[in-house]
Amino acid sequence: MCGIVGYVGPRDCTDVLVSALKKLEYRGYDSAGIAVFEDGKIAVAKTKGRLVDLEAKMQKQGKPQGHAGIGHTRWATHGEPSDVNSHPHSGRRVTIVHNGIIENYKQLKQFLIDNERTEFLSDTDTEVVAQLLDFYYDGNPIRCIRRVLHELRGSFALGIVFADRPETVYAVRCESPLIVAQGQGEVFIASDVPAVIKYTKDYYLLEHGEIAVLKNGGVTFCSLHGRMLEKELLTADWDEDSAEKGGYPHYMLKEIHEQPTAVKTTITPRIENGLPNLSECGITPETLRAFQNIFIVACGTAMHAGMVGKYVIEKLARVSVTVDIASEFRYRNPLIGTDDLVIIISQSGETADSKAVLNLVKGTGAKTLAIVNVKGSSIAREADMVIYTHAGPEIAVASTKAYMVQLSVMYLLAFEMAFAKGKIDEDTCRRLTAQIVSMPQVIEKTIGAVVDMCQYVSTKLISTDSLLYIGRGLDYALSMEGSLKLKEISYIHSESYAAGELKHGTISLITEGMPVIAVATQNSLLEKTVSNIKEVKARGAMTIVICDEEADIDSEATDYLIRIPKISEMLMPMVATVPMQLLAYYTSVNKGNDVDKPRNLAKSVTVE
Ligand code: AGP
Repeated sequence: MCGIVGYVGPRDCTDVLVSALKKLEYRGYDSAGIAVFEDGKIAVAKTKGRLVDLEAKMQKQGKPQGHAGIGHTRWATHGEPSDVNSHPHSGRRVTIVHNGIIENYKQLKQFLIDNERTEFLSDTDTEVVAQLLDFYYDGNPIRCIRRVLHELRGSFALGIVFADRPETVYAVRCESPLIVAQGQGEVFIASDVPAVIKYTKDYYLLEHGEIAVLKNGGVTFCSLHGRMLEKELLTADWDEDSAEKGGYPHYMLKEIHEQPTAVKTTITPRIENGLPNLSECGITPETLRAFQNIFIVACGTAMHAGMVGKYVIEKLARVSVTVDIASEFRYRNPLIGTDDLVIIISQSGETADSKAVLNLVKGTGAKTLAIVNVKGSSIAREADMVIYTHAGPEIAVASTKAYMVQLSVMYLLAFEMAFAKGKIDEDTCRRLTAQIVSMPQVIEKTIGAVVDMCQYVSTKLISTDSLLYIGRGLDYALSMEGSLKLKEISYIHSESYAAGELKHGTISLITEGMPVIAVATQNSLLEKTVSNIKEVKARGAMTIVICDEEADIDSEATDYLIRIPKISEMLMPMVATVPMQLLAYYTSVNKGNDVDKPRNLAKSVTVE
């Protein structure tokens, strides 16, 4: 998604903007640009391509020199990636950068054309906003911004500079996230904290409809109605190192290796006397007892964590769980009762479709629980209850450690709910809890055990166009994530299929040498899964099997075996995830892809 930054202070503004934008590269982008006050005028530099292309352009044309300005990385929504569509966009006296979508930009453009404003250079909705600000500008920036905000529909954030207000940056948040960071005599805006953590850990979270004015190294805030606001200064509890690669060639590999610590940090504060205790998140045995049905709603990887959650909660707590893709749930008119619980899982806490589900559920009487990684994010703030996962910043677009900690929370929730509902006794709950406590070491051991094999097997995948992931039960839920991980960074077409369903159509796709990755960690289903592996093998498939170190697998059915530590069947997803992540990672590396920033993808999807 687009990234916004801004700066007012004594440093070289262009350097600050570019360095901050580099930290937002993980969000995905196709062009970049900055606008800086230079000798009282606004100097703009922008280009299609990466930040290195912008730097090269500025080296040729001259770098804007100044101490206040705004910057942007664009992820195209309206208009193709091109120099002219890149941000910033300007009206006669106003220049802006923009994240999000203006839904009614066509009507607003028509309004401007009807009023003889016809100087549109780009295909973007952003330029319409710049022109509209210019149209209403009467010398009072705040009045003008408020006027325009009343006309715009959509979710967006803006960074704005007015040509006759030098050394001042204005920022607005309407849904899309934006922070204002306060340093010593300098102040920043950014779409996300990692952009500016190098300069300061202190930041304000702009709320929907709030306007910030950055001037003289400080900031003031006002509401959409013009009321001055006092805001709480927050402090990030992680530092620049956590957001750096720390010697790893890619963030993804670093984040895979961070999983043991991430799980430990997430579960430790939620375990008391050997039993799960989620009361600090607003969840008590009484509340858990009351829920009749559970809906888990999320997107992508987070939704896959919900799939595992469904199997575990239903098995242990005997409560019906429905898992939905957020963008579908919103439009299917779901039957939600007042005694139901809706769980939204999201790493970023800003995913537009997941956020919209919260609004939909409000008014049904059902309770909402957010499982979110980013502190203070929209979903975390709007839900009735929140369990923060403590994975730390996840930079790679392909989610790894966030998924792992989401799984750990799903287990804790299932254990506590099952105990609260009297479906398991205290001894069983303690035994299960002890198993999850041991997971960080098991994950660590698994990484070491499978890394070489995954690297080797990935060389067998690079020349394929298409493959299948198969599994049964929890292995099927897990294979969905394995398949998504592989396709999003290796660009190999991949589907996950319930192994038993293959015969009903999909098996016709199997041709000589087509890779089929079978996840076979569920001993109770092993025989049946092995039969499915044999079926595809008999039709020419190249089979790769992920199973535990003791599983009895017929060697004739498999080309490559990836053995993982054996633990209780129910917790196997937390182990089997590791080879799936590494297979995806090494396949992407071997294909020479941009592992951390795969094409067309964004880290946080703030548009619907
Ligand atoms: C993960 O690898 C994906 N890039 C993507 O599916 C992601 O999980 C999804 O967009 C949801 O994001 P969220 O967890 O921030 O809501």
